[in-house]
Amino acid sequence: MNGNCTRHHTDHGGGDRTTGLLDEAANPHPAPATRAVQAGLAADPAYGAVMPPLYLSSNFRFPGLDDPPAYDYTRSGNPTRELLTNALAQLEGGAGAVATSSGMSAVGVVLNLVRADDLVLAPHDCYGGTHRLLVGLERQGRLRVRFVDFTDPESLAAGLEQEPRMIWVETPSNPLLRITDLAAVARAARRIGAIAVADNTFLSPALQRPIDFGFDLVVHSTTKFINGHSDVVGGAVIAAGDELFEEIAWWTNATGAAQSPFDSYLALRGVRTLFARTRIHEENTRAVVGLLAESPAVAQVYYPGLPAHPGHELAHRQQSGYGSLFSFELEGGRPAAEKLLSRLRLFTLAESLGGVESLICHPASMTHAAMDEAAQAVAGIGKGLLRVSVGIESADDLVADLRQALSACQVAVPGCGADDADVVRLGSAAAEPGRRRATIAGIG
Ligand SMILES: Cc1ncc(COP(=O)(O)O)c(C=O)c1O
Repeated sequence: MNGNCTRHHTDHGGGDRTTGLLDEAANPHPAPATRAVQAGLAADPAYGAVMPPLYLSSNFRFPGLDDPPAYDYTRSGNPTRELLTNALAQLEGGAGAVATSSGMSAVGVVLNLVRADDLVLAPHDCYGGTHRLLVGLERQGRLRVRFVDFTDPESLAAGLEQEPRMIWVETPSNPLLRITDLAAVARAARRIGAIAVADNTFLSPALQRPIDFGFDLVVHSTTKFINGHSDVVGGAVIAAGDELFEEIAWWTNATGAAQSPFDSYLALRGVRTLFARTRIHEENTRAVVGLLAESPAVAQVYYPGLPAHPGHELAHRQQSGYGSLFSFELEGGRPAAEKLLSRLRLFTLAESLGGVESLICHPASMTHAAMDEAAQAVAGIGKGLLRVSVGIESADDLVADLRQALSACQVAVPGCGADDADVVRLGSAAAEPGRRRATIAGIG
């Protein structure tokens, strides 16, 4: 099979070029953050460039008729893209990876693995674009899909009984940050011979590694945390084993889904700072969520780092951090949300997430607009819900901006006197008088 991508130890042109200093005997087991910075560094064969060069060329010279080069044509393979896929395979603990033109093309590549009669079991609150593609492919008779609530054991068991060929997981889910038990789903998939796929976009390998829990494939919209600067649209699929890697690589080449070298170069630049950015994203999120959880204008905050979030314990077990995405509902519903949005200065009203800049969006009319109202209702996406992606600006500035915007949204809370109006409301927990501070610990 002709691939466009790399194995953990590449067979295109030698391990040194893509692994860089990491192959040094003196540094056999670097920490993930070190891998992210060092993958492919200082291995340029031409000039010894510390940062690997960008190879834009669409084609490569054959030294002779029976002497094919390491790369022949960029759709099938490219040295710059291979540096990125090698780094991603290492960070997710996979055998190999492909980099694609968008997160959705990564989803599309994976869905090529199922046949017309095969069932795909997917979360009822999966990313709207994934939902749209699954429904569209089912309409064309290209697969069958069933959406279930992966956090409801009965709903999940009913789906598994239908023996899906593929189980698709997104955890935390979008936009309510529901947490799915990765180990339990991987075990169920193994039992019924299904391919287990995790969309790991929301956490990145810096905070969660689904392959460690038994998943076969990991999907990313690298547009988000991996690139991290909101200037690339890209995707990736990482395979746990060689066989699936070969298949994924074949489909990526056959369908022309591979990422351009330029975008791969930028995405790899993002990988270099992934772990450092993640630390600040999380630090800022703790500050912002703390403010919202204490505000009388806020009805609910959905963040797995809050002890009252239903997925808190599970997140603590399977993640190495709670991430920097959360959503919340204001007491005043959509009118209050509109008011808040009009007052915010540092949180840009925009889709997407995972960039250095703080963003806020209205899932019902933006990210999840592809779902009809009934599907939104089933997924718990209300009209007053707002989702936030916390950036790496100063935490003090973000908190001050939110505080001034929230002051415009204060509503009288029925049953609350002036003195107890700032009762904390957290996740699904009922307000507890006297409990004024949200405890959000990081994961050690
Ligand atoms: C969880 C998730 N998966 C996949 C995608 C699709 O990625 P892209 O927009 O890069 O095609 C997105 C986009 O927002 C997403 O949030």
